[in-house]
Amino acid sequence: NTGELIDPFQRKIEYLRVSVTDRCNYRCGYCMPEQGVHPEGKHTEYLSFEELTRIIAAFTRLGVKKIRLTGGEPLVRKGLAEFAQELKRLPGLVDLALSTNAHYLDKHAPQLAAAIDRVNISMDSLDANKFQHITRGGDLAKVMNGIDAALAHDMRPVKINMVVMKGTNDDEIEAMVDFGIQKGVEVRFIETMPIGPAGVSMMDQHYAADAILKRVKDHVGTDLIPCQSRSHDGPARNFKIAGTDAKIGVISAVSDHFCASCNRVRLTARGFLALCLGQEDGMDLRSPLRNGATDDELEALIVKAITMKPERHFFRENVHNIEFRQMVSLGG
Ligand code: GTP
Ligand code: 5AD
Ligand code: SF4
Repeated sequence: NTGELIDPFQRKIEYLRVSVTDRCNYRCGYCMPEQGVHPEGKHTEYLSFEELTRIIAAFTRLGVKKIRLTGGEPLVRKGLAEFAQELKRLPGLVDLALSTNAHYLDKHAPQLAAAIDRVNISMDSLDANKFQHITRGGDLAKVMNGIDAALAHDMRPVKINMVVMKGTNDDEIEAMVDFGIQKGVEVRFIETMPIGPAGVSMMDQHYAADAILKRVKDHVGTDLIPCQSRSHDGPARNFKIAGTDAKIGVISAVSDHFCASCNRVRLTARGFLALCLGQEDGMDLRSPLRNGATDDELEALIVKAITMKPERHFFRENVHNIEFRQMVSLGG
């Protein structure tokens, strides 16, 4: 192999999102059904940290520079900080990031900060009751402590993800902008995506990114200046609020197509390599790994998988592969 991953549309794959578990202590309505992950996998269906490390190492040898640990909620998996420290040693890795609901972040921040460069935190409301309702049981005070801990341990920039839902939290767009300015965190407003029945069920609350941007602009009363994307910026369109240091972003998978510049693939907790969020194409890496594949064989399989990456997402209601049925399995 050539030490890099280029797909058939000339996109260079440099970003791997790794779901370390499909469990979560929260149950956001757009992400998973009320009863939690379904069906629940047996322990042996999930990759061990050693197995994950072998696959991730193969990706870094193939030019992947950015790894994001996601879930489910990654911090419900025991030993995550040690695992992150192991990954941090991989040559070629430039950016090791974490997506979390931050419920347990306060507790683990000191250990995580040794390895994790920066964190993205899901927080859809600044009102404790509403937050509890959206997450079906979440504790806003713990999340706030988590945000403070991330800042105190310099896992920056801290980005806050808010999925905007019409009639649920869209009245908080302005308050969230103010929160970002005051805390020194980057707020990203996300359009609900129709991933799985949970995502599809929320599409009647879909709120378009352009309407969000207009609300933000009216609120701050100055210009939103488009930012050049940084190496660590994913699909978000980012803006600087003129006259401040604050940045905001929008992620609009539905009203906008960022697929042309897609640079990422996903590894699920069961070891399935998902090539696109909105298409079922992918490859099982767990079986070859457990059947004794060598590092070279593993790399060859990954190179082959990348040749099957779809050109763009195409969200469908009928999904066959269980890994694609819930956002909580795909890792966002
Ligand atoms: P940065 O590396 O900080 O830019 O993070 P990120 O935006 O890549 O990751 P994060 O986990 O914070 O995800 C934010 C939102 O972007 C989530 O709703 C993801 O589902 C969504 N997202 C990330 N990558 C893709 C993608 O390739 N396609 C689509 N449709 N959505 C994506
Ligand atoms: N649509 C948009 N964003 C989603 N996330 C989870 N499910 C959805 C969905 N259906 C977001 C979470 C988290 C990120 C990793 O993915 O809010 O911030
Ligand atoms: Fe958990 Fe995040 Fe899904 Fe909410 S969006 S249920 S916090 S994984």
